[in-house]
Amino acid sequence: MEYPTPMQCVNMSKRIPVVREDALLPGSRLHFELDEESAILLNVDGKYYCIADLCTHDGGPLEDGDVLDCQIECPRHGARFDIRTGKVTRLPATDPIPVYPVVIEDGIIYIEAPDPW
Ligand code: FES
Repeated sequence: MEYPTPMQCVNMSKRIPVVREDALLPGSRLHFELDEESAILLNVDGKYYCIADLCTHDGGPLEDGDVLDCQIECPRHGARFDIRTGKVTRLPATDPIPVYPVVIEDGIIYIEAPDPW
């Protein structure tokens, strides 16, 4: 899968620009890092979701996990999480993953990151 290039993320405010909307087509995703945290921005059928790139089962990355019905599956052991809420939808994970609100303004996709992450 080809990923778009993230914008430079050096802004310390809570609203962080990530990428232009036209660079993240439906079905694509963007992995990015900010303040030593990894996250994934996904475009699922034209809706944007941002989740932490860290499975709560054993710390595996979710970046390459399959997404189906708004659930992402961890490639390591198959745990699933709802990308809208972060809730676990399939074991072996039991704890939710962080999700971050997404805002679109003037064609730019922003995330509302907690301060500090
Ligand atoms: S690390 Fe994700 S299911 Fe085990």
